Amino acid sequence: MTDHKQRAAVKLSDYTPPAFRVEHIDLYFSLGEEYTRVRSRMRLCRAEGTDPHTPLHLDGEALELEALYLDGQALAIDDYLLTRQGLTIERVPDRFELEVHTLLRPQDNTALSGLYRSGGMFCTQCEAEGFRRITYYPDRPDVLSRFTTTIEADRERYPVLLSNGNAVDRGESEGGRHWVRWDDPWPKPSYLFALVAGDLHCHRDRYRTASGRDVQLAFYVEHANAGRTGHAMESLKRAMRWDEETYGLEYDLDIYMVVAVGDFNMGAMENKGLNIFNTQYVLASPETATDADFEAVEAVIGHEYFHNYTGNRVTCRDWFQLSLKEGLTVFREQQFSEAMGSPAVQRIQQVRLLRSAQFPEDASPMAHPVRPDAYVEINNFYTATVYIKGAEVIRMYHTLLGDGAFRNGVRRYLERFDGQAVTIEDFLQTMAETGGRDLTQFGRWYTQAGTPRLRVRDAFDADAGRYTLRVVQECPPTPGQPAKQPFHIPLAMGLVGRDGQALPLRLAGEPEGQATTRVLELTRSEQAFVFEGLAERPVPSLLRGFSAPVILDYDYSDDDLAFLLTHDSDAFARWEAGQQLAVRVILRRVHGERREEDLDKLRRAFAGVLEHPGLDASLAAEALALPQETYLAQQLEQADPVAIRAAREGVRAELAGALAATWRTVYSRYRPQGPWRLEPAAIAGRRLANLALGYLAATGAAEDDERVERQYHQADNMTDSLAALSLLADRDDAAAQAALDDFHQRWRHVPLVLDKWFRVQAMSRHPGALARVQSLLRHPDFDLHNPNRVRSVIGAFAQGNPAAFHDSSGEGYRLLADHILRLDTLNPQVAARMALPLSKWQRYDLPRQQIMKTELQRIAEAPSLSNDVYEVVSRSLE
Ligand code: ARG
Ligand code: ZN
Repeated sequence: MTDHKQRAAVKLSDYTPPAFRVEHIDLYFSLGEEYTRVRSRMRLCRAEGTDPHTPLHLDGEALELEALYLDGQALAIDDYLLTRQGLTIERVPDRFELEVHTLLRPQDNTALSGLYRSGGMFCTQCEAEGFRRITYYPDRPDVLSRFTTTIEADRERYPVLLSNGNAVDRGESEGGRHWVRWDDPWPKPSYLFALVAGDLHCHRDRYRTASGRDVQLAFYVEHANAGRTGHAMESLKRAMRWDEETYGLEYDLDIYMVVAVGDFNMGAMENKGLNIFNTQYVLASPETATDADFEAVEAVIGHEYFHNYTGNRVTCRDWFQLSLKEGLTVFREQQFSEAMGSPAVQRIQQVRLLRSAQFPEDASPMAHPVRPDAYVEINNFYTATVYIKGAEVIRMYHTLLGDGAFRNGVRRYLERFDGQAVTIEDFLQTMAETGGRDLTQFGRWYTQAGTPRLRVRDAFDADAGRYTLRVVQECPPTPGQPAKQPFHIPLAMGLVGRDGQALPLRLAGEPEGQATTRVLELTRSEQAFVFEGLAERPVPSLLRGFSAPVILDYDYSDDDLAFLLTHDSDAFARWEAGQQLAVRVILRRVHGERREEDLDKLRRAFAGVLEHPGLDASLAAEALALPQETYLAQQLEQADPVAIRAAREGVRAELAGALAATWRTVYSRYRPQGPWRLEPAAIAGRRLANLALGYLAATGAAEDDERVERQYHQADNMTDSLAALSLLADRDDAAAQAALDDFHQRWRHVPLVLDKWFRVQAMSRHPGALARVQSLLRHPDFDLHNPNRVRSVIGAFAQGNPAAFHDSSGEGYRLLADHILRLDTLNPQVAARMALPLSKWQRYDLPRQQIMKTELQRIAEAPSLSNDVYEVVSRSLE
């Protein structure tokens, strides 16, 4: 194959501590339209125990070096070595000052890493390795330094000049320019550096901490977005309170700033004291944002805030430890969301995401452990595995240790390692000590990739009243890991009696107990658990709360599933039972099996959910949603996404017809009356009503089509408007087209809403969706430079519309590959993300595999491919 073997991988096993420390760095930015000059003055010293002959190496990329001074002496060209990766000075004293002048052109920085422009402003993204695109520096997370930063720019264009820490001085300079100096008292790695300059609106508020300190809160947005930061502000205050109450953590600076930018590679960034966010996770108003958007804003605001401790105060030694901060912070974010809303609904949504994003990754050539051991491009490892499987691993500590010991452990970890750059091992050790548990085997969750599978078999001995669960665990091979050692798995379970009552769980040899949920700990490849004192054969409720990121295999009958859906005391397990029942029915259709009783079973199960006396509308909406196409595909060795779509839509249409009257009742009963409100009951009502509308759209009745149109035209909020629009996007009649045109006309100047217009069409279930995507890509409002726009068309299509993307013609794959190649020259990070759907080729039938591989090959062979895309396509083809 091509030359990727020559592209150097960074390996965990090669880690060496830094040879030099940076005691202080003073930065001076002179921002300009043509170019920007950066002057860095550093106090460096050789780390203790380092060989006095070790040269100084500073990382640097895409920089123009203008001058270099060592202890005030200008260095000549042959005093140092300059390469594409950085700068090396062969001989330096043990302590010295280094001054570096670089020149940048942020306006040409389309990769959106380092210092770049978004709209009228300057902003930065330094994680993971963007700082080296600003100046030469030991750009690694285990070099912590004190930063002072002065920003100078045109006063009219850039009245707001921000960096980390506190503003300590400001002044005017010649030519209508001004400057502000910032001082960050907390030593930090370069990836947490940030700078923003622009003409920005500021929404201010303040927060009084538990100990009575006042913290200024400031949200900066472009003027056009003024008035849409209220929800983010309130979310931030709730997050600050929650972290004080839950973990005893109080904010540690006098000011907390958040800036929203429209061009951003990821969701948001936790820069010390100066978070930079994708506008998507800050801006929210009822007319422009859906309920899901509001929820996502709260979650991401929380996430970045929680990083202030888990990530900033205690950071990562190297990027292999990324999950140390991300897994832990996602888990804290999840706890926060659970505390703010419904824990059961949150858990269901977390699992849905894990299954749709992480399980497929774990089953693909891109599979890697939560702590990877090698990478070519670190940006490729900001993955579902590191983030959300990482959070599942943290959740398992919580399950195994219990809430109290878990929180003590996290606090102890933060105290012990405050101000340091540490490893996952340090975290695990601290948790093991605090919990008084041996977590050595548990550590395999970090080093072994792949999704373990639990095969559970049971037997009931009626005479002895004894029920035995036998559990076998296996984990499929993943790249570089042919065989796996058993994991330490917490399996939460219960037993349900024939009358629907939870049964007390007593293992052989134990005294009487009342517990009806327990956590069985699996540590061997095969284990048996014997329960005693049972009068009849129970129905097992397994993996309650989804206590481990595994695939469970137990041979339930359809009736068992329907029974659990009604009777299980665990809300997650009830949902899961309903989903499994629907999975079976749909998969039987995929296999061409039509059983008369199938639809009836589902209909009864669904009706049962709706008729349940204590109906919780938000849980019901989860239970009545059909399993996602991607999840259905995972149940098959080789999937045909077109057949899956047809089967799933067939079941939807039949359920729509069979329950039409019910859906109409649900629709009118649950749609909130009166003006829009962001309250749990109203949100749940919209969810359930829109779910019902989704079914009604499939009845084929004119009255239901009109209902969808009416909702679109009458909606006073984006949730209802978009729910209707996405149903209309599945049609191609005049009313549907009129609505799409209307939406475009109305929102074409609001980028985040325009993204939604692109997205609903890219995800359309209409058979002509592929052709529509082709024309969307030629639409004047489409722009490859903007990651949100790219994700809303290319990402939505390739990840969210499997039947269209996997069109048997292969056109979908070709279209994706063409755009990856174009995007790679602009923004390699985003291009590499877009390539991921192709990496899953092994999961499809042979003809599709062939075309997918051909397209991967075509990308791999393109000249001057970025490391980012190269790593994805070459691993995919290995
Ligand atoms: N640390 C950020 C977060 O999870 C993600 C930033 C990643 N950025 C990147 N370019 N890889 O909140
Ligand atoms: Zn994060």
